[in-house]
Amino acid sequence: MTAQEPLLPLRLDATGQSLIILDQTRLPGEEHYLALTRPDEIREAIAALRVRGAPAIGLAAAYGYYLAACVSTAISFASLRAELAAVAASLAACRPTAVNLAWALRRMERRLQSSADLPLVDIRRHLLAEAEAIRLEDEAMGLAIGTFGLDLLQPGMNILTHCNAGILATSRYGTALSPIYLGQARGYHFHVYVDETRPLLQGARLTAWELGRAGVDHTLVTDSACALLMRQGRVDACLVGCDRIAANGDVANKIGTATLAIVARHFGVPFYVLGPASTVDLNCPDGGHIPIEERNKAELTDLRYRQRMAPPDTQVYNPAFDITDHELITAIVTDRGVIRPPYSGQLRRVFA
Ligand code: MRU
Repeated sequence: MTAQEPLLPLRLDATGQSLIILDQTRLPGEEHYLALTRPDEIREAIAALRVRGAPAIGLAAAYGYYLAACVSTAISFASLRAELAAVAASLAACRPTAVNLAWALRRMERRLQSSADLPLVDIRRHLLAEAEAIRLEDEAMGLAIGTFGLDLLQPGMNILTHCNAGILATSRYGTALSPIYLGQARGYHFHVYVDETRPLLQGARLTAWELGRAGVDHTLVTDSACALLMRQGRVDACLVGCDRIAANGDVANKIGTATLAIVARHFGVPFYVLGPASTVDLNCPDGGHIPIEERNKAELTDLRYRQRMAPPDTQVYNPAFDITDHELITAIVTDRGVIRPPYSGQLRRVFA
């Protein structure tokens, strides 16, 4: 793939029989694509963060559900439905925080149900159509978020971002990085501070890679540099993505996001959360009800070190996400517009 070609982190191949994903665990060193055909392969790819980011894992799961119907040998609708229900449960369980995963699978299950009277070949066609609809909607949502987000920014701004909420995390345009790309195309000349994002370094490995590929000026910093940068007046706005937006406006995102929001509030820097409708969960009253994914301890002690870094008997706690209190968020930028406090009423009005 050349720098001119659009970056597509996941897509179905021309035969419609396998999902091609860019293996994000191998970036930035290698741009390696995998062809996945079975739901267990897609589950592994989601769990191992080969494909990651809330919208992208929702889409991968939708394709996984469709591919499960393609490889199924079920002889009745009831047995197909039972088989796909097991696939959906297993996909949904592998990353519990991002609501997009369960949201996409619910859509696929509804589509299956509405195709109950059709022959298997048509059921597969309908499931493919639903997965493709999710992809196209996600593209449109990313673009809309970019347009609304750009209205909040001025040319030449210094923007701080955390984790990767860019192209790699979605079907096409990203969420938090979408306004940056739109601004880049319009000559806004943003400069982006990229949090390395411990412990899996989605910022250092992925955001720095995709911003570099797009020619966006950026500087890599440690997560804990945020207070110094803001004290020095180097940050005009923080832009982050999200994995779930609760009904009261509390937001789950990559661990470290809440710290950033607290520091931004201290220094009077606007803190914007950007996310699509598929990330809003009105059934979840507040951040206290969002399940926090806890990941393998070795990600913290071993994964990116030449030799184990922590003493062998050290206790480890490795939550992948945290909750940012709605009171710390300046605005939530969605594909349906910019939502400002008080969030409860606004979110319900826009997304009910
Ligand atoms: O664990 P990850 O890499 O999937 O975490 C991703 C994030 O926290 C993103 O900010 C979030 O999913 C939004 S992606 C548009």
